Amino acid sequence: QKAVYAKDLLTLHELTSEQMYELFHMAMDMKQYGTKNVLQGKILGMIFDKASTRTRVSFEAGMIQLGGSALYLNGSDLQLGRGEPIEDTAKVLSSYVDAIMIRTFSHEKVELLAKYASIPVINGLTDDHHPCQALADMMTIYEIMDTFNGVKLTYIGDGNNVCHSLLLAAAKVGLHVVCATPLGHEPSEQIVEEAKGIAVQTGAVIEITNDPIEAVHGAHFIYSDVWASMGQEKEQEARKEVFQGYQVNDALVAHAHPNYYFMHCLPAHREEEVTTSIIDGEHSIVFMQAENRLHIQKALLKALLTEQE
Ligand code: CP
Ligand code: NVA
Repeated sequence: QKAVYAKDLLTLHELTSEQMYELFHMAMDMKQYGTKNVLQGKILGMIFDKASTRTRVSFEAGMIQLGGSALYLNGSDLQLGRGEPIEDTAKVLSSYVDAIMIRTFSHEKVELLAKYASIPVINGLTDDHHPCQALADMMTIYEIMDTFNGVKLTYIGDGNNVCHSLLLAAAKVGLHVVCATPLGHEPSEQIVEEAKGIAVQTGAVIEITNDPIEAVHGAHFIYSDVWASMGQEKEQEARKEVFQGYQVNDALVAHAHPNYYFMHCLPAHREEEVTTSIIDGEHSIVFMQAENRLHIQKALLKALLTEQE
């Protein structure tokens, strides 16, 4: 019995493990064989309250490749930016477009948008989640390893949005994931508990530590993200101190599997969270991840726009 897709993608809780695998296979097929105009005439509205290169361009290009189109809506240019309620915005946009993608600060804002929109809402990053990124990352690992069984991913850095989504995605697919963060920057306890709860069913292993060296031991994939996320620009200098020991560099990767892969959601700050030698080195797969954003989001758009009741 195939489950229908939930209306929205806000965290990753909306997808079953089977649906995640289905999306990987759809995306890999699209990547290999190209796509048909399955979203002919469909319009995606894209609200951005933060900057973006990958999310913006991959969603827009993806819609066009599927025969539809996309509207870039800068949050501060919308009446939303002048205080129009998100509930009203949700209802109005639902009568113009077929789906909404939103990138913003507060996760609650996206939940409210989804609650009041009658159309699918896709989270393109909040302070707490980045589900599309984690889907692309799992697809990338799956393409390389052909399985998640016995595969270890170590995330090093801040326990925020990207880390949270990796935890939930890893839990769903049955990956072994270790997060190493500085003290006080651990992922949300609630999300860790949720991930551990899912892991019981899937065989995933979820570990949280403050020790980066122990964390990368034998890792097949090492993942890093910026130390100061969008909205934390003022903390940039202070964070350089706190995260100092969490740089992915030659000394750290020496503890990983000899054929490890380096991952990063991008944009990256070279010589901060990762050295140039690593991100531009032969183990890096960061551009494969970036490309896979396009493919997995096309699969997701097709699923949410055509495979619901
Ligand atoms: N990784 C990612 O979401 O990139 P953008 O901020 O460029 O969209
Ligand atoms: N953690 C980063 C991810 C960017 C894709 C941020 O929120 O800025």
